[in-house]
This record gives sequence, structure tokens and C-alpha cells, in this order.
Amino acid sequence: MDKFVIEGGVPLNGTIMVSGSKNSALPILAATLLTKEKCILHNVPDLSDVRFMLDILRFLGAAVTFEGNTATVEATTVSSTTPYDLVRKMRASICVLGPILARNLEVKISMPGGCVIGDRPIDIHLRGIQCLGAHVNTEGGDVHATAKELVGTEINMGGKFGSTVLGTGNIMMAATLAKGVTVIEQAACEPEVVDLADFLISMGARIQGAGTRRIEIIGVNELHGAEHNVIPDRIEAGTFLVAAAATRSKLLLKGIEPRHQVSLFHALRDCNVDLVVEGSTVTVQPNGELKSTEIITETFPGFATDMQAQMVAMLTMVSGISVVTEKIFPNRFMHVAELKRMGADIQMDGATAIIRGAKELQGAPTMASDLRASAALVIAGLMAKGTTEVNRVYHIDRGYEHIDEKLKAVGARITRAKGV
Ligand code: EPZ
Repeated sequence: MDKFVIEGGVPLNGTIMVSGSKNSALPILAATLLTKEKCILHNVPDLSDVRFMLDILRFLGAAVTFEGNTATVEATTVSSTTPYDLVRKMRASICVLGPILARNLEVKISMPGGCVIGDRPIDIHLRGIQCLGAHVNTEGGDVHATAKELVGTEINMGGKFGSTVLGTGNIMMAATLAKGVTVIEQAACEPEVVDLADFLISMGARIQGAGTRRIEIIGVNELHGAEHNVIPDRIEAGTFLVAAAATRSKLLLKGIEPRHQVSLFHALRDCNVDLVVEGSTVTVQPNGELKSTEIITETFPGFATDMQAQMVAMLTMVSGISVVTEKIFPNRFMHVAELKRMGADIQMDGATAIIRGAKELQGAPTMASDLRASAALVIAGLMAKGTTEVNRVYHIDRGYEHIDEKLKAVGARITRAKGV
């Protein structure tokens, strides 16, 4: 398994082009199952999670190509049974549930296992398809849903942690081919949900309200093929911004959507980070001492849970006391133990990390555990004195397109090597 070897203490300098959004590309790829016709998707990031999803679409019977960052999918027929060995590897594969059910009125999919960021239930997804008329049977770790027809209705997608992003996507996709009108209350408002809705509308779906808590879908008989550009990855962009701030570097990011970054920009400016936004670019540059802060993760437009680990890493070297509370995935703190091995002073109190800024971090061998925790360890390695190894970087390759090459191009001393 590959590892990254990072020599810390080197400021970055240069320009990074942001890739397409993983969390937008995955449900949009699933949505191509809703039509027999060919779909063409541009700005699709070349990630292992994307390649998993393309393999699932191939297994289901679709003709798939992926070259450069353009994917084509033509699902003239779709199997109702998904491949267990692929689906269990990636939670996001649950987003084929809605499209297959809408297309075939039957779907069999394995329940996504938990992962290190926490239990990953799909109860709200299942509640949603039952409201549309599906009969759901869960047995032996599988979900088997069947329906005589799908009929639009009012569905509340709220749960104790707020709404569900992929759950909203699943129900929105299923509702496009249901009879009548579906209203999703407490819908997720993430930009990735809006991008999915935009793609579905380009396929002929009738959707209003995406990006708000209330989405209305009027069912149609069929959808046609479409061409679409995936939005930029706001979490990849945010990760590079935090890396630059943490290493007191000047970095220009190209291809961002500032409207997706309001909470992150606010949090970074609260820490005395200097950000200059011009169109689809943002420049981050040193602006004196960083300030400690308080972060609480929320559903969009609040501070994204996917940026929590990266911020914790940066705050470990900001003097004073910072407090980070995780309200979406309360267990999402696998990065803390590894950061403490590098000298960080972090005390946990339930789902809250209390961070006392250290003078410096010491490089050390570390172990990646999940996608964003790995990104936090890369940031810590860039900040630390000496050499840091981040083992099992397959976690990071799931969600960041060539992150080592992008960082090396702006001066980071990072190499990919064979690891444990
Ligand atoms: C999406 O996951 C993202 N993944 C996650 O990004 C992101 O962290 C998450 O949304 C929250 O923003 C993709 O889009 C592929 P949820 P999703 O359903 O949709 C609970 C990354 O790092 N819940 O919005 O699976 C759930 O346990 C990944 O790129 C239920 O209780 O997340 C969590 O506490 C990690 N029942 C909360 O809701 C359900 O039926 C939010 O989860 C569904 C979810």
C-alpha cells in the first residue's frame, strides 16, 4: 500500500486548479441509470470512488467510458441486483437505490457497512422509498425493495443529525419517474444536491426548489440523455486553502465556486486568514498570526463536516484554545490520535475537540483511516518539523485527484512511496 513521505516546514507558493466534485459526480453517475439514452459528463474527477461507481454501472449492464475527465454512460438495460463486493466498499453506492427502483420498480442492494466516521444508517432513504410506495424487505444485510408503481407524496427527509445528502438525492431521483407530485421536506441543501437536480432537469425532469429545504418534483414518463459539467469540488478547494493557511503560504486556487465556500471563508477569516476572491479564483496569503476560533459543523450552508479534520489540523499550531464540535458525524475524530502523536494538544469531550495550540508539530509515521482524516494528516505533515509518513494513502486517493502532484507543483516536499 502506498504512503506519502512529507518534509514539513516548507511554505507553498503557486497556483492549483480545483477538480470536479466527488460528491456531485457520484450521485450524478447513478442518475444516468434513469434513462436508456447516452449521458456525457465532463469535469468528473479521476478518483478510486468514481472508478468504483463506474464499475457498478458496468455490472448493472451500462456501457461506460471514462477518458480524461469525461465519462459517458448508456444504460439501455439495468439489472435490479447490485454487486455486493463493490457496494460494500463504498457507502456512496447507496445512491443507485433510487434510480434502479424508479427504472425497474425493484432493487436489491447490500446495506452499506459502517465506517470509521461512524454508523452510516439508511433508515431515512428507506422511509422515503416506502412513502413512494415501495415494499422494503431487509434480510441478511441486503435491502430488497419492490413496487407496483411509485406515486408522488409528501416526504420528510429529516433525521436527528439534520437532513441526508444522498438520501435527498435518492428520493429526488426516484420521484422523477413517479406518478404525480412529490414534495421533499427538510431536504439537504448542499451544492451537490443542486448539481444533481440541474442534471436531472437537463434529462427532462421537472424539479423546483433544489438548494432549499423544500423540493418539489413532478413525475414524468421517461427521461432522455443529457450532457453536464460537474461542479468544482468545494472540499478539495477548502483542503488546499487550509493547507496554505496552516503553512503560512501564498496560494492561488482556480476553478472554485465562491458561493459554495461562504462558511469556510468566514471561519478562515475569523482565524485572521487573508482571502481575496476574484470570480472563480481565490488567493490565500499570510496575514500575521493566526487566531484561535470555535467551529461547529452543520448541514449546508453551515460549516461542512468534511472540512472538520483539516481545520483541526491547522488549529493545532494556532496559539490559544480552539474548540471544534462535530454535529453531523459525532465520531469523526480518527485524526485526533494521529495528530497527538505529532505533538498536538487536543482533549476530547464527547463530539468536541478542545485544541491548545502547540509551538510546533513533530513529524512522525502516521496511519490514514478515512478520507478527510488522511487530508488532515497531510496538512499536519506540511506544518510539522521533520519527516511525516502518511500510510495507507488509498484512503486519500478515494477523494483527492493527484493530491501529491498538485502539492508538489506548488513547492511541497511530498513523495509517494511503497508503505506498510
Ligand atoms: C454525504 O454523505 C457525503 N458523501 C459525505 O462526504 C458528507 O460527509 C455527508 O454527505 C454530510 O455532508 C457523498 O456525498 C458521497 P448524510 P451521506 O446521509 O449522504 C445520518 C466525504 O468525506 N443519516 O447526509 O451518506 C448520518 O448517519 C464524505 O466526502 C441517518 O441517520 O451523509 C449522518 O449522521 C464522507 N439516516 C447524517 O445523517 C439516514 O438514512 C448525515 O449523513 C441517512 C443519514
